[in-house]
Amino acid sequence: MSSKKIIKERNLELSKEIDKQRIPQHIAIIMDGNGRWATNKGLPRSFGHNKGVSVLKEIIKASKNLGCRVLTVFAFSTENWTRPSKEVDYLINLFGKVLSKEIDEIHSESIKIKFIGDLSPFPDSLKLILQSAESLTQNNTDFILNVCVNYGGRQEIVKVAKEIALKSLNGEIKASEVNEELFNSELLTKGLKDPELLIRTSGEKRISNFLLWQLAYSEIYITDVLWPDFNEVEFLKAIIDYQSRNRRFGGIESLPNESFEDSYCSY
Ligand code: FPP
Repeated sequence: MSSKKIIKERNLELSKEIDKQRIPQHIAIIMDGNGRWATNKGLPRSFGHNKGVSVLKEIIKASKNLGCRVLTVFAFSTENWTRPSKEVDYLINLFGKVLSKEIDEIHSESIKIKFIGDLSPFPDSLKLILQSAESLTQNNTDFILNVCVNYGGRQEIVKVAKEIALKSLNGEIKASEVNEELFNSELLTKGLKDPELLIRTSGEKRISNFLLWQLAYSEIYITDVLWPDFNEVEFLKAIIDYQSRNRRFGGIESLPNESFEDSYCSY
């Protein structure tokens, strides 16, 4: 049997295990391992990033087909500037090229694309491509793709704190009015529910400054699979794993009252 056919059959098998009523509506992904994937194959790191793009396309399709509504992916962190300038330039170029090539299909699929992060250090040519992709797709309603570029979770929180401090100085709000709702309304993801699921590839067990506020209660799924090897089968496995979790948000599973025993407490 061809490997494509095997993957298709595995997809079908896994799809049957998925509860369509409990698909996470917002999934965040740290697409890690592009460089290692290429190096393991004796290839330049750029090959890993190229393959990473085609995996991203596959996962956008898979999430949309499954009924997920929002995908937020980490494409370039505020820390990625410390990479050799050739790799940084390659990535910046790649974003522009991919966007220019794929934007018509993204639009025809009714996907609204948003770039989250500080775009100011990027070349004007890239800024233009990103901004026109956003404005072309701004009224699309089937799916939202947030691409985090030059994004850092701490930087986002500091930015929100500054906005709130300014509003307070201007007398627009009182300190006593600062609460989570107000904070949410200033985030780069404003208007969106927090991700129910975070997927991180390549086995690292870190959040790496990604969506620090928004991931407070997200379920975390870490796989050793490197991003360029990630595919729909691996994605469905993540969803099945998520559906096996019991999300308690700091509470406990609902139990009858009498099952709580004061006498267990020795204090
Ligand atoms: C992490 O792998 C990956 C990145 C820093 C870049 C991810 C970008 C893409 C997949 C392209 C997305 C394109 C668009 C247009 C959104 P790594 O290089 O850190 O791998 P390593 O940890 O093995 O070194």
